[in-house]
Amino acid sequence: MARLDMTETFHHISFPGHIHTQDSLNYALHFQFRDRDTVIATYPKSGTTWMQEIVTLVKNRGDPQLSKTVPNWARAPWLEQHYSAKVLEATQGDRIITTHLPYNLLSSALQGSKAKVIYVARNPKDVAVSYYHFHKMAKFLPEPNSFDEFLDSFLEGSVSYGSWFDHVKGWTSQAGVLANGLYISYEEMWLDLQGSMERISSFLHCPLVGDELTNSLRHCSFSSMSDNAMVNYTQIPKEIMDHSKGKFMRKGKIGDWRNTFTEEQIGIFDTVYSYQMKDCPLTFMWEC
Ligand code: A3P
Repeated sequence: MARLDMTETFHHISFPGHIHTQDSLNYALHFQFRDRDTVIATYPKSGTTWMQEIVTLVKNRGDPQLSKTVPNWARAPWLEQHYSAKVLEATQGDRIITTHLPYNLLSSALQGSKAKVIYVARNPKDVAVSYYHFHKMAKFLPEPNSFDEFLDSFLEGSVSYGSWFDHVKGWTSQAGVLANGLYISYEEMWLDLQGSMERISSFLHCPLVGDELTNSLRHCSFSSMSDNAMVNYTQIPKEIMDHSKGKFMRKGKIGDWRNTFTEEQIGIFDTVYSYQMKDCPLTFMWEC
């Protein structure tokens, strides 16, 4: 089956061309955030869909009605994708807005806004493996060859959405999310979903009590989300995501990179990581 892998290059970063246009990317840069907006910022494969589900449940006090009837991309649209302007402008009240854009491209639009920003990061070895598998099934991304080749592109930042290092460092810089937003890791959510949900709900000023919390936890577990057609992408046509090549809800684990990386790849990765992250205070959990 043919790929839809045309790209849209914007500020030296390539974006999948079937969902991004120069207009949609520029729209994001000049977006008027409202004080009641919640922004979920992530590098791909870092737990974006999971956070969209958590925030939806928190905002709806654990009631899964919306999560089970409206696809994630419609209730938490990606700011930079071409369908989003209509959805966002038509939404009154609280909006959940997702973005994979790097911080430097959104910083002026966010400046002065009271929108609540949540940044989710995941250990980049698991991101690289998850992203590699995603390239196999997502027809709007270039067909990957070996993991070795993909890892080189990932480390040099030439994959779609750019460099993981720049993304994480940009969003967590002093000017970024650490000052007023919420930084949380995939690993923290995985190890302590209840504690994470409590942190997120209190950050959003929607603390959950009793069944609200229990229901939210149940609905955003990996097994529940894997069965939810509104987040597992099984409703997307095969020409766009081919589930015979792999599932979107693939494994949902910490440390799965161990099953893919060779010793040589670990050495190369660790060298690049130490250089790129030398001035960054963040630490990641690599296995559990
Ligand atoms: P894997 O490919 O490692 O399984 P994103 O939404 O940013 O594209 O991230 C997708 C990754 O998050 C996939 O990782 C997916 O399985 C994982 N994921 C999604 N929902 C999850 C959940 N409820 N619990 C744990 N992992 C989840």
